[in-house]
Amino acid sequence: MASEPTTVTITGGGGQIGYALMFRIAAGDMLGADRPVRLRLLEIPQGMRAAEGAALELQDCAFPLLVDVDVTDDPLTAFNGTRIALLVGARPRTAGMERGDLLAANAGIFGPQGKAIGAVADEDVRVVVVGNPANTNALIAAASAAPDVPADRFSALTRLDHNRAVGQLAETLQVAADEIADLVVWGNHSATQFPDVSHAILADGMPVPDALAERLGGREQATAWLDDVFIPRVAKRGAEIIEVRGSSSVASAANAAIDHVRDEQLGSGRGLTSAAVLSRGEYGVPEGLVCSFPVTSRGDRAGYRIVEGLDLDDRARGRIDASVAELVAERDAVRDLGVL
Ligand code: NAD
Ligand code: LMR
Repeated sequence: MASEPTTVTITGGGGQIGYALMFRIAAGDMLGADRPVRLRLLEIPQGMRAAEGAALELQDCAFPLLVDVDVTDDPLTAFNGTRIALLVGARPRTAGMERGDLLAANAGIFGPQGKAIGAVADEDVRVVVVGNPANTNALIAAASAAPDVPADRFSALTRLDHNRAVGQLAETLQVAADEIADLVVWGNHSATQFPDVSHAILADGMPVPDALAERLGGREQATAWLDDVFIPRVAKRGAEIIEVRGSSSVASAANAAIDHVRDEQLGSGRGLTSAAVLSRGEYGVPEGLVCSFPVTSRGDRAGYRIVEGLDLDDRARGRIDASVAELVAERDAVRDLGVL
């Protein structure tokens, strides 16, 4: 077992996703069975009791890898020396709230947290934002941590969208989820995202578009299914879960956050995955946006790298441009608030 524990901070530690995350992290699902962890749970005063209760339960699990758990409502304490930060706590949209109000409320959370990360986190900190609107919250946190932490250390979660897309394809093609590779989610973690199967392949080497045509009775049928069923179903899956379950996704979101960090830290293996990372202009996405791209990681200090050079047809380009336009509008709204 590695001797030095890794400090992992979860914000919103008293909330639903925080609760689903912490036991799996403490069990070694995120960083591996040889890396002890020190957990820090950040909450606002109203959430402290729930987080403290969860910390009691963590103790009762007697996880061999869990060195200790701190619960705090002070960002400087929560991020002190942190190596991995999962920013989950966010201000949810409530009735009558405009998008600008939501962005402003979240800027009031992710700005100070980014600043605290810049001030006290480990020099090699990695941050993934889960709390919505995740891409723009990551942008705000990254801008607030500058210049102490490079902006490319901040990412936002679109792995849930990626996993949802794989799940839908696996069901339709009647294959196991791990037989599908090289699917990509582009854009924003919102209904404008573009889950793209055009580069995806099956374990036997068959391109997914060909497998869909075979299964659904032709190319036209496959295209109609992608446009009318698959893309909207994946893009609106969050809303579907809220409608059916009565509240937003929790275990699947926590699972995706663990996949995101594990693949970044330990390596993503062969093939592409999806993460919202800092654009440096790849695929024509304006520099500085946090956008979902095809990525891989070798598990080294570089973290996620954007895989360039994939061919995009006009339909794909149009869908990516629409989602990127939404990211630009969110960034501009935040700029108008004077946050960036
Ligand atoms: P929740 O309401 O159960 O928990 C959120 C917790 O965050 C609460 O305990 C709250 O007290 C805390 N919190 C609020 N402000 C905070 C702050 N400034 N510092 C620390 N903690 C703070 O919500 P949840 O179900 O855990 O969801 C959390 C977020 O994740 C939401 O924004 C949700 O929309 C988002 N989400 C994202 C994805 C994704 O794929 N990116 C998927 C599902 C949910
Ligand atoms: C999800 O994708 O499940 C969430 O982002 C939905 C939401 O609005 O919380």
